[in-house]
Amino acid sequence: MAGKVGVGLLGLGTVGGGVASILQNPSERHPLVGELELIRVAVRDLNRPRPVALDESLLTTDPSAVIQDPAVDVVVEVIGGLEPARSLILQAIAAGKSVVTANKAVIARHGQEIAEAAAAARVYVLIEAAVGGGIPIIEPLKQSLGGNRINRVSGIINGTTNYILTRMAEEGAAYDAVLKDAQELGYAEADPAADVDGLDAADKIAILATLAFGGSVDRSAVPTDGISGLQGVDVDYANQLGYGVKLLAVAERMAERMPNSDDPLPLSLRVQPTLVPKDHPLAGVNGVNNAILVEGDPIGRVMFYGPGAGAGPTASAVVADILNIAGIRKASDGPGKVDPLLAASSWRPCSLVDSGDIRQRHYVRFKTKDAPGVIGNVGGCFGQRNVSIQSIVQFNASDAGAEIVVITHEVSQRQMNEALEAIQALPEVSGLAAHLGCL
Ligand code: NDP
Ligand code: HSE
Repeated sequence: MAGKVGVGLLGLGTVGGGVASILQNPSERHPLVGELELIRVAVRDLNRPRPVALDESLLTTDPSAVIQDPAVDVVVEVIGGLEPARSLILQAIAAGKSVVTANKAVIARHGQEIAEAAAAARVYVLIEAAVGGGIPIIEPLKQSLGGNRINRVSGIINGTTNYILTRMAEEGAAYDAVLKDAQELGYAEADPAADVDGLDAADKIAILATLAFGGSVDRSAVPTDGISGLQGVDVDYANQLGYGVKLLAVAERMAERMPNSDDPLPLSLRVQPTLVPKDHPLAGVNGVNNAILVEGDPIGRVMFYGPGAGAGPTASAVVADILNIAGIRKASDGPGKVDPLLAASSWRPCSLVDSGDIRQRHYVRFKTKDAPGVIGNVGGCFGQRNVSIQSIVQFNASDAGAEIVVITHEVSQRQMNEALEAIQALPEVSGLAAHLGCL
């Protein structure tokens, strides 16, 4: 295919601005970047100051005008949110345009609908920027690791919360002030509750699970806890016990399945503040950086690490997707073949196990009376429910009471819940003050 590849941008905020900036400065990048031409850009407010200098005639407030422009070959959706983003992606597919999107909220909820529409229209929908910001993780999962049986994908996949936790741990900075910095740096979602409540990480782990295990998962069933309820005292206690605290997302295969079985593949997914031993590779992942550990057979364990949010890193991933589509178009002199790894026909049924069956180690903190026998009684409640304790420590003993921190060995959530119920009924225990995961 001769000539330029036309790019239509939907959105010119943090990510859209980063993409436009790369397209305007192709020098010393891949030669194909110079063959991408920014045709039109949709924004909400024509008068808003822009991070990049653009010919104003490119701007419109009508996203359909961008999609339907005959010179636009690839539509880049970086508006965010569920609607109109979902409808605009489907509109672009219906118009025969390939789509690149950074929108994990849409893909986690409507990925299958979008992939089916793309397969029927024989166009691409590429999503490298939707997880891990600038880290290449989507294409490696789809292609480079395709020969593996993936058993577990876990990691730190929200830059805003990792930035907040790092600055709170390293500087003792105040939560609200650091969140404001993260917003100003362009890391946070339009509604930062999506970051701090763990919803963004849940979107991303649902997408990674879909790719790693080859089937769609019910996003609404992912147990999700964020950092907004995390207390500094637990970060301090974790530190004294040899752990850092990270917002971790985990997706793992739960059981062997017979080959050719039609039963859904059982998976366990969760997002939760989690204690990470200081010598674990994830413990050193700080600031806006993300890291994703993929464990599979026969590869073993690989870790993908890098900047997880922000204009430049995210635009790097978006432009890589545009280049992939442009390269295929040029090689095939047309829209190109459909990527079989994104086609809906290759998906298989997956089911999320009941949250009571999720197995992991736990960190819990109880407020108690500082009375003789209290540690023994707490330990007894755990033992009677077959919950094995790795460590039990009393902090802060005073007239006002004490705090007992327990780290367990791996147990099911159901066993843990039963033990916690029994412990909270003890007269010397005034409450469960914190409950986190532990690697
Ligand atoms: P911003 O809020 O910075 O930008 C959104 C852009 O979309 C703005 O230019 C806005 O216009 C435009 N827009 C909003 N609604 C409409 C509409 N109805 N019609 C036309 N234009 C509209 O968001 P980000 O760039 O931060 O995020 C974009 C997407 O990328 C989201 O899905 C986000 O989750 C994802 N993402 C973001 C990352 C980051 O680090 N920021 C990293 C990875 C993914 P106007 O400027 O006029 O208001
Ligand atoms: N708000 C997201 C984060 C952007 O902080 O990770 C990148 O997806």
